[in-house]
Amino acid sequence: MDKFIIEGGRPLYGEVEIQSAKNAVLPLLAASILTDERVIIHKCPRIRDVLNMIQILGELGCKTTFYEDTLVIDSADAANHEIPSELAKELRSSIFMLGSVVARFGKAKIAYPGGCDIGIRPVDLHLKGLKSLNVKISEEGGYINCSCDRLTGADILLDCPSVGATENIILAAVRGRGTTLIRNAAKEPEIRDLQNFLNRMGAKVAGGGTSTVRIEGVEKLGGVEYTPMSDRIEAGTFLIGAAMCGGEIGLNNACADNIAAVIHKLREISCKISVKNDKIYIKSGGTRKSLRMIETMPYPGFPTDLQAPVTALACISEGSTVVVENLFETRFKHVPELIRMGADITVRGRAAFVRGVPSLRGADVVAGDLRGGAALTLAAASAEGLSTVTDLYHIDRGYSGFEYKLSSLGVRIRRVHI
Ligand code: UD1
Repeated sequence: MDKFIIEGGRPLYGEVEIQSAKNAVLPLLAASILTDERVIIHKCPRIRDVLNMIQILGELGCKTTFYEDTLVIDSADAANHEIPSELAKELRSSIFMLGSVVARFGKAKIAYPGGCDIGIRPVDLHLKGLKSLNVKISEEGGYINCSCDRLTGADILLDCPSVGATENIILAAVRGRGTTLIRNAAKEPEIRDLQNFLNRMGAKVAGGGTSTVRIEGVEKLGGVEYTPMSDRIEAGTFLIGAAMCGGEIGLNNACADNIAAVIHKLREISCKISVKNDKIYIKSGGTRKSLRMIETMPYPGFPTDLQAPVTALACISEGSTVVVENLFETRFKHVPELIRMGADITVRGRAAFVRGVPSLRGADVVAGDLRGGAALTLAAASAEGLSTVTDLYHIDRGYSGFEYKLSSLGVRIRRVHI
């Protein structure tokens, strides 16, 4: 068990390199099983979710090797179609493997997935989509069993624009017979990245990143060498960190378009933000004006994955802010911890009512999930006095070298083993 010890209250200065997107890399790893040729992923972050997914690939019979930050996957000898529950429970993205494993082997067996405990997180849309593609599905003993003689294209309408369901259906349909249309598809940029990756393997996918995705099935996919898109959630986390702590920082390998909703909000509260190619610079505005209202939405709205960090920011902004979480029911685990640090927050259902205080004070807090843990770390970095953040395994799921990056920006932070 590790914890951060943070001495807060120093402004941030310097530059950080943004990692490749966790939520882009995970579906690419699932896609790698679609070919028996070699897949090379550059700038692959060594975060816990990626390492878990690599273990799942190993379980299926793939060979994986890291050469510095380049991951090479060789699935020529992959033969197993079962993902055991210990692995699936660690990682919600294991569910993406259903589509690609069934496309490769004609069958798949996977335990119900885990991931952050932030609400009910059903997989009904994933299963309904795969059924439309002619996959037979049965559920027993906590496992989902899939089998299919031939995947067949279909016209699918998602009841809600689920990112994971959109990706899972794409991963199955690329090797199906005929055309698949996914209507009301999720529009998150990671889906466009998956499309680009698959098309480089020889797939025919169009419309990724819009509400209608069209897939023409192909017989065979080949190897690919690819650098995934940058992580918009990590970029947003650092921008919010600068707004909270004060100072002036630059992000390299960042895409401003993908976090326009965050940049707009930060400008509203008087941060100065400029963009040059793949660099984003932020200078905090000193006083933080009220954020007033933040509602999480599917892309291009304000991302749910930055709700916890922005709630931490609201705690030390002027006036009152209402934060509404529309995507996940129980994504307010960070709130009681922020209250320990002196925040004034009331939660009612899906809304958090935040009344700003001049500053937070150091406290011992516990990370309850990935983004909540990042939010508490930022809160501690901005707070007066000493804090500890425990249960870092949540943060390690999605941020590579979080403490090193914060430390390079001037935060007094260290990790200790307890
Ligand atoms: C992905 C992201 C996660 C992000 C989320 C929303 C990855 C690995 N994870 O998660 O970081 O917070 O998008 O942007 O990319 N739903 C159903 N039935 C389903 C599937 C989803 O009702 O079968 C609902 C969910 O309960 C939720 C909403 O749809 O309310 C959106 O979830 P979804 O887009 O599927 O999120 P994930 O793909 O799990």
